Amino acid sequence: QATVPFYGAHQAGIVTPAQDRLHFASFTMLAGTGRDDLIALLRDWSEAASMLTQGKPVGTGVEPDSLLLPPDDTGEAEGLGSGHLTLTFGLGRALFVGAADDAGEADPYGIRGRLPQAFEPLPSFAFDLLAPGYTGGDLCVQACADDPQVAVHAIRNLARIAAGRAHLRWSQLGFGRTASTSRAQDTPRNLFGFKDGTANLMAEDDGELAEHLWAGDEAPEWLRGGSYLVARKIQMTIESWDRSSLAEQERIFGRTKLAGGPLSGGEEFTEPDFTAPDPEQTAQPAIDIAAHMRLAHPLHNGGARMLRRGYNYVDGSNELGQLSAGLFFISYQRDPATFVRVQRSLKPDLLNEYIRHIGSGLWAVPAGAARGEFIAQALFE
Ligand code: HEM
Repeated sequence: QATVPFYGAHQAGIVTPAQDRLHFASFTMLAGTGRDDLIALLRDWSEAASMLTQGKPVGTGVEPDSLLLPPDDTGEAEGLGSGHLTLTFGLGRALFVGAADDAGEADPYGIRGRLPQAFEPLPSFAFDLLAPGYTGGDLCVQACADDPQVAVHAIRNLARIAAGRAHLRWSQLGFGRTASTSRAQDTPRNLFGFKDGTANLMAEDDGELAEHLWAGDEAPEWLRGGSYLVARKIQMTIESWDRSSLAEQERIFGRTKLAGGPLSGGEEFTEPDFTAPDPEQTAQPAIDIAAHMRLAHPLHNGGARMLRRGYNYVDGSNELGQLSAGLFFISYQRDPATFVRVQRSLKPDLLNEYIRHIGSGLWAVPAGAARGEFIAQALFE
């Protein structure tokens, strides 16, 4: 079974062809921890990640030296192989400025001076209904794999390794990728039944990746070759969507449901023509002025682009018998301001009637580690 290398210039799990399963986890550093604890945690996590991503157990594996000790590895991924597991690590802003934010001189990890200028907290957006239980965190780990048990096993073992230094604050399981990150992949569908990820940044777009995805000279050295990860837990009101007409559904996205082509005509990958009139009501544009795809398009956002890498989720159902379902949106971009710009453009989005943003996070994702080094090592040098 092929493995995705953990070590490299960029962290894996960004342009890696999106696997089908996600376990995303947010961690908080424990009160009283300091710089050495953070360094040791990142070192231990990097070592474990290099083993897990090869389908190997962590530490001494399932059989400890003594039967009286708990096994180093919890065991449930034995025999499952690597499942193309990737583990991508991010650092939250609070690590740099302390939980009290800009109020004081808090600098528990001695990295306040290394805070990138662009690393501003996300503002609140219209319609935000964020729950603390799915928002923020000092560290994040995105585990993606073909097999959900492989992804869960990785997060579970990283959480064990973090004991005494950081604890798991919230986590999210996702199934069914909602984006392609390589032209070799078919476009998947979100829970509204539409193709999602058609106009995404892809691994093959070298020049575009350098321009829109990877942090460059504007960033401090430790972040160059890295990126920023935005996660948004977006609840979708599936039941009301399912009662809306096909015409309404297509108007909302600006694309056809089955083929995914723009309503201005053509196939899935035809460029949309935002000036084309609606053939039946020629005073109207074929792609509604408040269609999701129009508002999110780079043409209407000063050329801004991001790499989307989200997943569908269903967290069971609520007491009204409705699915607690939605999109765990993940995007990577060179500057968090890109996400802010596009999300602000989406204020009049027709889609807003059917979605609620209920969780949020922003993390700086350092460049990849070289063999023998650990993630974010340059931040401490
Ligand atoms: C495009 C779904 C939220 C950014 C699309 C498309 C669909 C879709 C079906 C058209 C196909 C494609 O190009 O991928 C959704 C759903 C959402 C959601 C169901 C919420 C539940 C967001 C958010 C952002 C975003 C929060 C960023 C702030 C984009 C971008 C495009 C896009 C940049 C490509 C536009 C283009 O260049 O044509 N989305 N989306 N979406 N979406 Fe979303």
